[in-house]
Amino acid sequence: MAINEKSVVASHEDAGPGYRFLVLEAPRLAADLTPGQFVHVRVPGLESTALRRPFSVFDADAGRVTLLYKVVGRGTAALSKVLVGDTVEVMGPLGHGFPSSSKGVPLLVGGGYGVAPLHFLAKRLKDPHAILFVGGRTKDDLLALDRFAALGVDVRIATNDGSAGEKGFVTGPLDAVLDGLRARGETFELFTCGPDGLLKAVADRAVAAKMPGWISMDRHMVCGVGACYACIQKTVRGNSRCCVEGPVFRAEDLVW
Ligand SMILES: Cc1cc2nc3c(=O)[nH]c(=O)nc-3n(C[C@H](O)[C@H](O)[C@H](O)COP(=O)(O)OP(=O)(O)OC[C@H]3O[C@@H](n4cnc5c(N)ncnc54)[C@H](O)[C@@H]3O)c2cc1C
Ligand code: FES
Repeated sequence: MAINEKSVVASHEDAGPGYRFLVLEAPRLAADLTPGQFVHVRVPGLESTALRRPFSVFDADAGRVTLLYKVVGRGTAALSKVLVGDTVEVMGPLGHGFPSSSKGVPLLVGGGYGVAPLHFLAKRLKDPHAILFVGGRTKDDLLALDRFAALGVDVRIATNDGSAGEKGFVTGPLDAVLDGLRARGETFELFTCGPDGLLKAVADRAVAAKMPGWISMDRHMVCGVGACYACIQKTVRGNSRCCVEGPVFRAEDLVW
């Protein structure tokens, strides 16, 4: 069941141009969150009637919850001003996340801040065969690579401008690995979070290969708890609420 925890800011650091890591002392949430679930944050500095903002969980460990966020508008700009020692109200755990184990080689595919839930997932899977594919327009869009390296995850990179890794889309290195796995008859499982184009590309590959694919959808949210129907995603079972039935959906259930 979701709780609202008054957490204290333990650290707040740059995570790349326009990105921040926010570490919160939130022992109850840290104990309950699973990868792919999200939290709804009341942003200090916004008026009390302002909506909360949803964020994936980058890490939840030792009583602390870490978020990786991008400053894009009023709420995240206000969030970027919170200081160590400030109190932030955080509601969670919310939504359905990724499965807690993988039935084949775990292939994690992320773009931008979409790597956030994949880091928490990689940490929990503890699978030495896991590979992270990360893409961006330029090297400045590649986030938290050192944190994935510290987990021992094999990281494959692609950038549109070729400033880091392979030049082009991240589906380039992904397809090369998929071809190899298929040739050896190995099973795999796809997990993804990022821009819609990337999510669809990964979902299409999971469906075509008849392998499990777990797609974390990023939809505008208002209430975050299933009451307002602002976050609808079409699925084969009809309209689903991203905040309750998602944000993680099975690839074959999504209607694009
Ligand atoms: C389940 C979930 C998990 C998320 N996880 C993260 C995360 O780990 N890190 C992170 O940085 N952000 C994450 N987001 C997106 C984040 O919630 C928004 O960026 C944030 O709410 C924007 O608030 P704002 O007031 O700064 O921007 P606003 O002023 O509300 O909007 C600024 C711009 O961002 C766009 N925007 C707002 N919300 C979203 C959204 N959900 N998706 C795409 N564009 C949006 C608006 O259309 C507008 O163009 C997540 C969203 C969801 C639904
Ligand atoms: S945000 Fe209100 S139902 Fe999902």
